[in-house]
Amino acid sequence: MIRLQQALGEDFTKAAPEDLAVRIQAAKDALGSRLLVLVHHYQRDEVMRFADFRGDSLALSRAAASRPDAEYIVFCGVHFMAESADILTGGHQQVILPDLNAGCSMADMADLEEVEEAWSRLEEVVDIDSLVPITYINSSAALKAFVGSHGGSVCTSTNARAVLSWALDPARRAGRQVLFFPDQHLGRNTAYQLGYGAGDMRVWDPRLESGGLEEADMKGSTLLLWKGHCSVHQRFTPSHVAQFRAEHPDGIVAVHPECSHEVVELADEVGSTDYLIRVVETAPPSAAIGVGTEIHLVKRLADENPAKTVVSLDPLVCPCSTMFRIDAPHLCWVLEGLVEGEVRNRIVVDDQTAIDARLALERMLAIA
Ligand code: 13P
Ligand code: SF4
Repeated sequence: MIRLQQALGEDFTKAAPEDLAVRIQAAKDALGSRLLVLVHHYQRDEVMRFADFRGDSLALSRAAASRPDAEYIVFCGVHFMAESADILTGGHQQVILPDLNAGCSMADMADLEEVEEAWSRLEEVVDIDSLVPITYINSSAALKAFVGSHGGSVCTSTNARAVLSWALDPARRAGRQVLFFPDQHLGRNTAYQLGYGAGDMRVWDPRLESGGLEEADMKGSTLLLWKGHCSVHQRFTPSHVAQFRAEHPDGIVAVHPECSHEVVELADEVGSTDYLIRVVETAPPSAAIGVGTEIHLVKRLADENPAKTVVSLDPLVCPCSTMFRIDAPHLCWVLEGLVEGEVRNRIVVDDQTAIDARLALERMLAIA
């Protein structure tokens, strides 16, 4: 999806880092409690240092919902997270994304038209009243609204297990099958954790006719997993794990569930960014931990736990290029705008979409 971010002037792009830091702090001080700065764990340190609250996507959704007094919520993360914050906050609150080009390539792998097309095809083949749509929070508000209006729920990497258990609870009338999008890996890894096997799952490829599936597969699968992935987490491979274990035979391998199942199977610990942080913090002093997630978080964990050896499982891992777009100049630009009375880069979800999407988000928050 193309979202056009206007170019910033030289007073931002050429400013020295120390000057920008002073200006950001001055704007924060001027705005006081009218402002809440939410920062995802994958953000750069130059942004993280100004966080009022740092967290993973679930914690940030909760934080946004819990501060009705904040007039402006500056969301240092990616577009779908800012949309979720707008949906969960009141009409008197404005959510701002410092760079409009901070999207998520995984979220862009499923759009409403494709999901509606898949649903119509499945309607012809399966008992549609028993099919529950579940969307990972890494998805557009339009998809969350689709899910909300079709009896489904959002999930995050923290609560995917609880949400899938809810969706497939035999006590519920709807609950025989799940269409899970957009991340096939989170869906697959969670299904395995719940005791499902490879034979219970099929991949739905939106680029192929009927998702590339025979009718028997559509009918016979408990989970239909959308063919989407995270380009950052999919880079980790079993050979990275083997290499880390060769160098650190007693080390701990901790990975995000957006990694492939082959990697997850070899890991000691699997969980959301908040969970990975806890694994590192509670590991014994002098432990070696090989982490499979975004590099900014891994580097911060290494800095904050100097007695432990914290390394990326992939020595050549790249940052999440869209998270990386949020930097001190963009943060300064939106904050100084607010001080001047100008709201820049507001993220607004239209009313009808927000009503349906809120249903799906609130279902998630009620489940876990
Ligand atoms: P978390 O739910 O762990 O914050 O993950 C969000 C994300 O985008 C991971 O790539
Ligand atoms: Fe999206 Fe992957 Fe970046 Fe997370 S790390 S925001 S899933 S592209």
